Amino acid sequence: MARDREQQKGDLLVLAPTGEDATVIARVLSSRSFDTRIVASLTEVCELLRNEEGLSVSGLVVTEEALEGEAAVLIKCLEDQAAWSDLPTCVLIVAGNPDSAAVRWRFFEALGNVTLLARPLTVEALLSAARGLLRARARQLQTKRHLDELKAAALMLEQRVAQRTEELMAVEQTLRQAQKMEAIGQLTGGIAHDFNNLLQVISSNMELIKVRIRQGRMVEIERHAQSATEATQRAAALTHRLLAFSRRQTLDPKPVDANQLVSDMLELLQRTLGPSISVNTAFAHDLHLALCDPPQLENVVLNLCINARDAMPEGGELRLMTENSKLRGRATVLHDLPEGDYVVLSVTDTGCGMTPEIAAKAFDPFFTTKPIGQGTGLGLSMVYGFTRQSGGKVTIDSRVGAGTTVSIYLPKLEGDDFPVAIKSQAPTAPLVASPKTVLVIDDESAVRTLCAEVLREAGYNVIEAGDGLAGLSLLESNLHFDMLVTDIGMPGINGREMADRARRTRPELRVLYITGYAEKAAFPNGNVDPGSHLLTKPFAIQDLLARVEQIIAAEKS
Ligand SMILES: Nc1ncnc2c1ncn2[C@@H]1O[C@H](COP(=O)(O)OP(=O)(O)OP(=O)(O)O)[C@@H](O)[C@H]1O
Ligand SMILES: [Mg+2]
Repeated sequence: MARDREQQKGDLLVLAPTGEDATVIARVLSSRSFDTRIVASLTEVCELLRNEEGLSVSGLVVTEEALEGEAAVLIKCLEDQAAWSDLPTCVLIVAGNPDSAAVRWRFFEALGNVTLLARPLTVEALLSAARGLLRARARQLQTKRHLDELKAAALMLEQRVAQRTEELMAVEQTLRQAQKMEAIGQLTGGIAHDFNNLLQVISSNMELIKVRIRQGRMVEIERHAQSATEATQRAAALTHRLLAFSRRQTLDPKPVDANQLVSDMLELLQRTLGPSISVNTAFAHDLHLALCDPPQLENVVLNLCINARDAMPEGGELRLMTENSKLRGRATVLHDLPEGDYVVLSVTDTGCGMTPEIAAKAFDPFFTTKPIGQGTGLGLSMVYGFTRQSGGKVTIDSRVGAGTTVSIYLPKLEGDDFPVAIKSQAPTAPLVASPKTVLVIDDESAVRTLCAEVLREAGYNVIEAGDGLAGLSLLESNLHFDMLVTDIGMPGINGREMADRARRTRPELRVLYITGYAEKAAFPNGNVDPGSHLLTKPFAIQDLLARVEQIIAAEKS
C-alpha cells in the first residue's frame, strides 16, 4: 500500500449519491492509504478536472446510477481534458441490470478510459480497481512531465535561437559599419590623393607665373596658365564623376533614341578602341525612346567601351546591343526596379573578365585594378549613379577569361513624361547694340565678381546681389532684367526658390543656374525644370558667355 501512497498525486473521487455507498467505499479506500474525496455531483467532478488541468484528481469511482441523465456533462468535460490526460474511471455497475447490455456498453465506451466493476463489491475487487486507476493516472502524469520537459526544451531552444540571431545581427551590423568606414576611407583617400596632385599642378604653375612676370619672361606665362587650366579641367571632371556616383549631378533628361546615340558615337568609339578591336552593333529596330540626360549617356557608353578596351589589350570584339525589356511581377523584385518598360543598352567584350570579388567591388568609387595613372576607379561608379538617378540600373555579367557584359536599364519615355517641349536653343547670336541687363546672384563674392566682370566686359549691364533675399527684392522691383544668373545653394532662400517666387511677377524670367551640384532641396529628383538652364561649376568663362548669349537670343526668337 505504501507504493500506492507514494505514487498517488491526487484524490480518488467517489461519486455514489445513494445510500451509504460513498462513505463505505471511501472508508475502505482510506483504510488502505488511498486519498479519497467524496463528491456530490458530476458537475463537481468536472470543476475539479478543469482546475489546474485536473492534477488534483487521480481517478473517479462512480456508480452507474449517478451517471444516469448526467452522463453528457461528464463526456463533454472528458473530451475537454488536456492532451496528456485521460481520466481513469471505474463504474460500479449493477449486476443483473435489466437494460439492454448493448446500450449500456456503448454508453460506457463513450467515457473512454473506463473499468467496470459489478456490485455487490468485494474489498479486494475495489482495491484492485483503485490500484488500476492510480497506475493509469501515474503513467499519464509521467507523459505530462515529458511533455512539459519537451516544451521547456523547445522554449529554451527558441530563446537560444533568438539570442543567437541577435548576436549575429549585431556582428553583421559591426561588419557593415566596418565596410562602410572602409568605403569612406577609400573614397576620401582617393579624393585627397587626386585633388592634391591637381592642386600641386595648379599652385606650382601659379607660382611659376609670378616668377616669370618678375623675370619678364612673358612668353612662358601662356604655357603655365594652360597647364593650370588643364589641371582645373581634370579636377572638374573628377568632381563631376563623384557627383554622378552620389546621384547628385543635375540631370537634364530628354527623350533619347539609344540606337541613334550609339550610332553617332561609333566613329569616336572606333578611334578610341583602336584597330585591334572590332566593333559591332545589334540594335532592336522597334526600340523605345528612353528618358535620360543624353550627354551623360554618351559618357556612360564611352566609359564602358574604355573599360572593355582595357580588358582586351590583345584586341578582341566589342558588341553594343539595344533591346526593350518589360519588367513585371517577380522580375521587378529581381531587378530592384519598379514595374514598367525599359530600354536596355549592353556593352559586351571578349576580354579578361572579372572574378566575382572584383565584380562585387567594381562600382565602388576609386576601386580600380589598373596601374596608378591608368584608372581612377570612378568610371563604373559614375555609371552606377547615373543609371540609378535616371530611374534605371546597371548590371555586370562577367566570367574570368570569357569576357564581360555590362547592361544599363533606362526607363522608357512615357507619354506624359515630357509635357513641356523644350524650345530648341538658337545658335549663338552676336551681341546686339542695346545692352542687355543681367542680374548675377552668388553668395561667394569671388565667383560673383568674376561672372560680373566677364559679362560686363562682353557688353552687358550687370547688377549684383549677394544672396537670395537681396536678389528677390531686386526682382520684385521695377528694374528691368533680361535674365538671371544665380547660384543655387545660398543662405536664406536658395536660388531655385528665389527664381520660382520671382516668376510670380515675371513669368517670362530666363534663368541660368550655376551650381556645384544638384542640391536635393532645390531639385528633388536632380532634374532642372524646363525653361531654366544649368551650368555646372567649375565652368570656363567662354561657356558662361556662350550660355548667356544663347539664352538671351532664344528669348528674342
Ligand atoms: N569590361 C571589363 N572587363 C574586365 N574588368 C572590368 C571591366 N570593366 C571594369 N572592370 C574592372 O572594374 C574596375 C573598376 O572599373 P571603373 O571603370 O570603375 O574604374 P577604372 O576603369 O579602373 O578607372 P576609370 O574608369 O576611373 O578610368 C576596373 O579597374 C576593372 O578591374
Ligand atoms: Mg573605367
